[in-house]
Amino acid sequence: MNLYQLVYVSKLPKPMKGRELKLLIERAKIKNINLDVTSLLIKFDTNLIQILEGNRHTLQELYDDIESDSRHINVRNCYFEPAEQRIFGKWALTFLNLNNEKLKSKERLQELAHQLIDARGDDEHSKSILLLDEFSERVKQ
Ligand SMILES: Cc1cc2nc3c(=O)[nH]c(=O)nc-3n(C[C@H](O)[C@H](O)[C@H](O)COP(=O)(O)O)c2cc1C
Repeated sequence: MNLYQLVYVSKLPKPMKGRELKLLIERAKIKNINLDVTSLLIKFDTNLIQILEGNRHTLQELYDDIESDSRHINVRNCYFEPAEQRIFGKWALTFLNLNNEKLKSKERLQELAHQLIDARGDDEHSKSILLLDEFSERVKQ
């Protein structure tokens, strides 16, 4: 398989209701299973970061759909590169709220998420790699 990883950041134009988010995730999950895509969607304040893993063309087409989705704005593709293996191999779409008070050892993730959200130009690529490396380590544990 021509495995790729794609990382994008975006913003919520207004707070999304829990129900709305749940529906979005449920639908996306079903579609990702069919497309053999695995993914992590992170919410941090009004920011979103999504990591998508799958076939190159599948991800390109899916990203085009996601980018034009009016439920979020300022969508920026930060990273799209070949990968040796999936990080989120078990999850069609898993959701992580970095504002969740119960989330353990979240400081490092918040810091990396901040760095990526604030990054521009070449930095978007390098900060994406830092985030991917962090998750790669975490899922091994
Ligand atoms: C933040 C965000 C993340 C999304 N993630 C995915 C995803 O991982 N997979 C997916 O199929 N759709 C995702 N979507 C939905 C797509 O933008 C689009 O609505 C969907 O692919 C359309 O599928 P349909 O035409 O089969 O209904 C996401 C939308 C938003 C706003």
